[in-house]
Amino acid sequence: MAQQLPGYMAIDEHYILGKDRSIRFDIFIRQEMNGRPKPVLLIGKDTQISSVQTILAAKKGQLGTLFIKKEADRDFQQFMEDSLNLLIADPTVPVAKKSQIVYDCAKNVLQDVFDDPRSGGNLQRTQQVTNNMVDLVLSNNQSILSLLNLGTHDYYTFSHCVNVAVFGLGLWIMIHEGNNAELGDFALGCILHDVGKTLTPEQILKKPSRLDEEEFAEIKKHPLQGYALMKDYLPPIALDVIMHHHERYNGQGYPHGLSGDDLSPHAKIASIADVYDALTTNRPYGAARLPFEAILTMKKEMTGHFEQDKFLEFIRFLGGNSS
Ligand SMILES: [Fe+2]
Ligand SMILES: [Fe+2]
Repeated sequence: MAQQLPGYMAIDEHYILGKDRSIRFDIFIRQEMNGRPKPVLLIGKDTQISSVQTILAAKKGQLGTLFIKKEADRDFQQFMEDSLNLLIADPTVPVAKKSQIVYDCAKNVLQDVFDDPRSGGNLQRTQQVTNNMVDLVLSNNQSILSLLNLGTHDYYTFSHCVNVAVFGLGLWIMIHEGNNAELGDFALGCILHDVGKTLTPEQILKKPSRLDEEEFAEIKKHPLQGYALMKDYLPPIALDVIMHHHERYNGQGYPHGLSGDDLSPHAKIASIADVYDALTTNRPYGAARLPFEAILTMKKEMTGHFEQDKFLEFIRFLGGNSS
């Protein structure tokens, strides 16, 4: 169990990667003084990473949890995101650890995007972390399983978005094995698929009971709103996923009522990933279903929503990745 220290947050030494960089935050350890936990400065900010690594290696096993001050959170977040390439390429870091870190970074970035979707900096970070996720998934096929296991069952728009990207990537790779050229753009669309909900009134998003017709009409605007928000910044595949993830194979979806092969393979896959994650997550008006219950619901109550072949592949994908 990780130690705690009020006003400080625990960090993972796996993040301290690289050579020609310095850390931008102080690192503390926790010591007991007169029966009370106290922070003790271990390594000051602006120390070269190679020196940090030397200190940590020399004291391995004696330090306990490493901490930073809570207010250094932003600096640490940016530092972590800049380390992801190195982390994914590092053969000494276990896949489960890499997956955890990539997932956490993606969730944090998404949280910032949902706070401020027009920020170019946030979008650039989203693109970067999405590419990191694609690199991880392509470099190791165990990572999909690790990433799937990280999904929480509690609903937050941003963790839902990361989960949809994970399910979407997994299914895409299964169906289109080897055709990975557009994977980054597709994953970007998945991760931002609900970005239009930043314009949906919060009382509707958080309403604990079923939505009335008017409220539902409001929520149904989010694909077009997301498209409008992002149209100048994202590649066409990503925009297509944002605009069309609520279309249905039988033409009864929205916003355009597209059907069959008028829908792109990207939109078809994203819609399966989206519905499945929504069903297996606790939401204000419904408890999470177990995976097999969700599949049953999709099969029996949502006939015609999904392209059959892709839906069957998705069941196969889940079966192959269940632990
Ligand atoms: Fe949506
Ligand atoms: Fe969604």
